[in-house]
This record gives sequence, C-alpha cells and structure tokens, in this order.
Amino acid sequence: MKTTYFLANFLITSLSVMVGFSFSKLARPTVPAIAHHFGTKGRYEEVNPHLLDHILFVNKSLVAPPSSDCRAIHMVSVIRHGTRYPTTKNVKKIARLFDLVSSHASGSASWLNDIKTWKMWYTEDMDGRLVEKGRDDHRHLAMRLAQSFPTLISEDHLRANRIEFITSSKHRCVDSVKAFQEGLHRFWDVEDMDYKHYVDDSLMRFFDHCERFVESVEKNKTALKEVERFKSSAEMDAVRRKISSRLQIPYSQFTPDMAEAAFFLCSYEFAIKSENSPWCDLLDESDAQVLEYKNDLKQYWKRGYGHDINRKSSCPLFHDIFKRLDKAADHYRSGEVKKTATIQVGHGETLLPLLSLMSFYKDKKPLTAENFSLQHSRTFRTSQIIPYAANLVFVLYECSDGLRLQLFLNEKLMTFPNMNHSAPLYETVRKHYSKLLSGCEFNKECNVPQSNLRNTEL
Ligand SMILES: *[C@@H]1O[C@H](CO)[C@@H](O)[C@H](O)[C@H]1NC(C)=O
Ligand SMILES: *[C@@H]1O[C@H](CO)[C@@H](O)[C@H](O)[C@H]1NC(C)=O
Ligand SMILES: *[C@@H]1O[C@H](CO)[C@@H](O)[C@H](O)[C@H]1NC(C)=O
Ligand SMILES: *[C@@H]1O[C@H](CO)[C@@H](O)[C@H](O)[C@H]1NC(C)=O
Repeated sequence: MKTTYFLANFLITSLSVMVGFSFSKLARPTVPAIAHHFGTKGRYEEVNPHLLDHILFVNKSLVAPPSSDCRAIHMVSVIRHGTRYPTTKNVKKIARLFDLVSSHASGSASWLNDIKTWKMWYTEDMDGRLVEKGRDDHRHLAMRLAQSFPTLISEDHLRANRIEFITSSKHRCVDSVKAFQEGLHRFWDVEDMDYKHYVDDSLMRFFDHCERFVESVEKNKTALKEVERFKSSAEMDAVRRKISSRLQIPYSQFTPDMAEAAFFLCSYEFAIKSENSPWCDLLDESDAQVLEYKNDLKQYWKRGYGHDINRKSSCPLFHDIFKRLDKAADHYRSGEVKKTATIQVGHGETLLPLLSLMSFYKDKKPLTAENFSLQHSRTFRTSQIIPYAANLVFVLYECSDGLRLQLFLNEKLMTFPNMNHSAPLYETVRKHYSKLLSGCEFNKECNVPQSNLRNTEL
C-alpha cells in the first residue's frame, strides 16, 4: 500500500509535469500570478513550493534532532483546518459581484467573456465546510509528519493510544482531524482501527470563551476601525477604479466589498479547484497587495497585536502546550512513555493569537490604515503564516545536556524571538516565557467585571 501510494503520486506528478510541458505554450499558467497574496485563503503549497513536485517530500536533514545524542520525546502540533468553502457571508458577497458583472460589465477581452459564461456554483449552505482538497491537505501533512518524526508518530504509538487527537467542534476541523487520521492509516496500511478524537473548544476556540475579547473586540465595531478606514483609503479607491474600468462599470457601483469578492473568488477557485480562474484577470499585482494588506489589517486588529486581549485570549492553549511538554518530560525521566504526540486541530484564529502571545511576527510599528506603503516589508503577513493547514509544531528532545525544544511553523524550523539557538534548552525557553507561564491566567485576563456588563445592558 505504501509503495503503491508513492508510486501513484510519482506518476501523477510526472504526468502533470509532462502535460504542463506540452501545453505550456497554449494554456494560461495554472497558478494565478497573485496567489502568494491570498492570506488566510492561501494554499499551503505556496509557502512550501517544493510540495508541488512531490506532496510527501520531507527533507530529513531539516527535521533532524538538534544533535545525534538527542531523542525526541514529545510533539505538540497546533494545526489549522484544511482548504474550505467560503462562509455564507462571503458566498453572498460573491453572488452580488457576479450579478453586477454579468448584468453590467462590457468589453471585448476574452477573459471578460469567460467571466460572463462562468457559472456561479457557490451556495450558502456550503458554509465554510472542508473540501476534498482540504482533506488531502491533512492526509498529506499527517504522512509528512510521520516521516519527519518517526519515533513520535508511529503505527505502534497510534495503536497503543499514545497519540492524542483534539479538535475544535467546527465541522471543518472535525473533518480535518479525521482526514489526518486517515492519512496515517493509509500511510501504514492500517485497516482495523477506530478513529478517536476529543472535541475541546475551550482550547481550540478559546476566543469564544474569553468574555473580554468578545465584548471589547468581537462585538465592538470601533475595535476594527483601521480596517474600515482602509476601505475608504486612496489605495483601495485606486483598486476599485482600476477594476471598474476594466469591467466598464461605473466606479460608484463597484464597492470595496466587490473588489474584495473578486479577490476571494480568485483565491477560492484556485484553492478549491486548482484553477486559475478568469476572475483573477480582474486584479493585478498591486491590487492584490492592497487587498492582502486589508486582510492582514483585519487579522492584526482582531487576532494579532492590535489589541492586547487578542493575544491573551490564547493563554489556556499556551499553558496547555507547556503542561503537555512538562508531563512528557516527567514521564520520560521516570521511564514510562504515556503520550508521544498531541495533534490539535483548530483555526487560523487559534494560531495567530498564540503566535502573537509568543511574540512572533511582531513589527516595530503597528499596521494602520495610513501605513500601507510603510508596511511593505512587514513580517505580519498571513499569506506566509496561516494558509490552509498551517501548523505549529513543538518538538521536545532529551539530549545529553538536558531537554531541548524545537519549533516548526509550516514545517520550517523557527527560532524563538530574541533567542539565537534553533533548539534552545527547554529551561531557557521556560525562562524566556516565565511571565506568561506564571501569569496569563484565563480568569484574570478574560473576565469582565459585572458592572461593565450591566452598563452595556442599560
Ligand atoms: C535538504 O536541505 C539541505 C539543507 O538546507 C539542503 O542542502 C539540501 O539540498 C536539501 N535536500 C533536498 C533533496 O532538497
Ligand atoms: C471598543 O474599542 C475601542 C477601540 O479599541 C475601545 O476604546 C473601547 O473601549 C471598546 N469598547 C468596549 C465596550 O470595550
Ligand atoms: C505611519 O506612517 C507615517 C509616515 O508615513 C509615520 O509618520 C507614522 O508614525 C506611522 N504611524 C504608525 C502608527 O506607525
Ligand atoms: C548566540 O548568542 C551568544 C551569546 O549572546 C553568542 O555568543 C553566540 O555567538 C550567538 N550565536 C549565534 C549563532 O549567533
């Protein structure tokens, strides 16, 4: 089974290379030129392009233990669900764009004709569900992680219940964790096992449970005022002007939401169906940069550094991860191996606050409506950080000089902020985050005094 799988993959890859080669002069490129700006709607392969040649390829030298005297003892992975359909809200936006364009656009460009004959196939009941490509995202990720960390993710450990699966209750996450398990089962040719996972929203959807976050950011329109201001910025106006003139539709009818819907449509058609849709022709590189910034602004103010509570709402998950690592170290030292890996599936909204809490991707200046051009080389770039199936993996090692910790984002080794070692001593990491480890209490950060609640009720 394993060989067959590899062989099949190899054949498919070779075939697509051949097809790509023979038709390259006729066909449009298969990847939209703006695909690396899709933010949270981006394909995982854009951050790891080598996977396009071989979806199961793992470069063993990049996931090796910090040194030959180290043994991996536990892994905690926090993984975003895979590629999904648009949510109901975005399906509505797409439908409005499609209606306007099919009834009012004119011109003779061939892509315009392609757009006008394009069939609207998104329906509101798709509601952000996982698509088949999203299942593949997780199946393949599971197989790569099993190859990367074979002593932690193995058939024996799976059979002995030493790998724990936890997920958000959302259908796309539950379906992702099942696909992940399916990937492992296929990888080892296991047929006789039940799938088991636990739903835990207090860990994977901590943002719903943090009252202060809900009251002061989620339900608070002014919390995202920079996003609103950017919608009416000169940059966004220019994008609307360009697209509406390409379509020969009056600028006043072409709202910022429609520009965004065109961008989303291009990204969905690509992520879900691997197509470079004619809708992508509506946008050029600079349009995509503006729309990417708009999305990053939203994530920054809603999930990232914009408001302190965004980061702090992830305290429960942060503590949970370190507790699991501590426990694994204790068990290892007393000679018993209870759990070798924890696989946690959640959302982009789970990963961004956690990464921000741990001070990753922090730019010197905040992202604001005015500062699009100043932020051209920002590190807070969701296209790179949280595409579909984005994953943050902590690996704890026992080495001759003590415990060491490695961290991977999207299968690439990271260094902790202000630490210059790629596998620092676990004690050093704990010291680095000591304030968070001894504080960052859910109740203290997230509870809203009753008097405040009463005020908003009045
Ligand atoms: C694996 O990574 C190493 C280190 O970056 C690199 O030198 C090597 O070429 C890579 N191997 C493959 C097959 O990509
Ligand atoms: C809403 O957000 C604004 C801007 O961050 C803040 O000043 C205000 O206190 C927030 N309102 C509530 C009810 O938290
Ligand atoms: C935004 O950029 C302007 C210069 O273009 C600068 O003066 C200002 O300090 C920046 N604001 C922030 C909040 O970074
Ligand atoms: C890391 O930091 C230490 C102490 O500041 C320094 O001695 C060492 O050269 C640094 N290593 C690297 C790889 O930068």
